[in-house]
Amino acid sequence: MAPTSFPERLLKQWFPHTTTPFIANAPMLGFTDCRLAGAVTRAGGLGFIGGGFEFGPESTQLKNLDTRLTQARAELGTIASTRTLPLGIGFITFTPTGFEENAVAILEKHRVAAVWLSFPKSDADHQPLIEAIRKVQSKGHWDVKIFVQVGTVQAAKEALEQGVDVLVVQGVDAGGHQWAQGASLMSLLPEVRDLVANSARANEVAIMAAGGIVDGRGCVAALGLGADGIVMGTRFIATSECPAPLSMKESIIAATDGGVATVKTTRHDIFQSTDVFPRQYDGRAIIGISYNESQSGASDEDIIQRYNEAKEKGDDQRRTVWAGTGVGIIDKIVSVEELIKSIQQEANLAVARVMERI
Ligand SMILES: Cc1cc2nc3c(=O)[nH]c(=O)nc-3n(C[C@H](O)[C@H](O)[C@H](O)COP(=O)(O)O)c2cc1C
Repeated sequence: MAPTSFPERLLKQWFPHTTTPFIANAPMLGFTDCRLAGAVTRAGGLGFIGGGFEFGPESTQLKNLDTRLTQARAELGTIASTRTLPLGIGFITFTPTGFEENAVAILEKHRVAAVWLSFPKSDADHQPLIEAIRKVQSKGHWDVKIFVQVGTVQAAKEALEQGVDVLVVQGVDAGGHQWAQGASLMSLLPEVRDLVANSARANEVAIMAAGGIVDGRGCVAALGLGADGIVMGTRFIATSECPAPLSMKESIIAATDGGVATVKTTRHDIFQSTDVFPRQYDGRAIIGISYNESQSGASDEDIIQRYNEAKEKGDDQRRTVWAGTGVGIIDKIVSVEELIKSIQQEANLAVARVMERI
């Protein structure tokens, strides 16, 4: 076992408005906006907005992001200092061209507190992006922390060497895209914690856990495995502030037995013609009509056609509901504030239960 000299409260130091345990929402592209992220920050967590994957000079995603961040600063009022906007932006990085020139300028302009990078074609591709952010940061007027989501120990090692501040360790219970080959948090997280603890950067890097966490019990388990804080995606979809359609929230609430109700595969992207992720990634979603038809022998062409026809008619029964195995535990839509408060309370109860047993 590695030495237990964990960095003391780095996250609290970096994000002073936050309460403990440290909770962030995942930057789920298309399902996160100022309202959701602002509510998470106001409730004592760190709110993230999905910033996109297109970084060209005419990128609509970047233009929208710019507008949203102006709106977010106005909405957050006094929580936002002139120096930092207490929100993070997540980017999908498998086509990084233009990131340095176009995305960094917007992040700097709004002085966002955190940048989150995920899903590069090769881990090495993050190096120039991180360097570009650090270069601007070194001018001294923008204090930003860099988060990189990793699903393997090798990816964590590379990100650590590239100088990240926060490793978001993503286990295979996670909803949405993830490493096709990986492990659950139960074994991945302690191995990454040991890696960090044995490195020269042990006292300057924080670890967050993502994948299957939906309540205080999962939160305490993740902290026990070596995390400094938690990230939730699926749980935040079923909140009143999340911009996801109601039908998606209802599917999450209705699902039980998460390991059976969801499946991790590249098929979800094939059915909805979004199979653009590099081959080391797949995605977990609720098993739906398209997947069942495919299992019964229907061809991809037929399924894609039926998907497109349904979409054109505004019928969302075939929509992919990206979700993690935690769906079985989620049974109602709550406000972000209620969710964060309840996790903090449940975490105390879970700790007391653990203490009784050891
Ligand atoms: C609907 C949905 C969309 C997601 N979109 C993104 C994304 O755009 N970028 C990203 O880095 N991760 C994305 N993820 C994965 C999350 O970062 C995170 O790893 C995951 O939500 C954690 O597992 P959980 O959903 O069980 O909480 C998404 C997850 C979901 C459920």
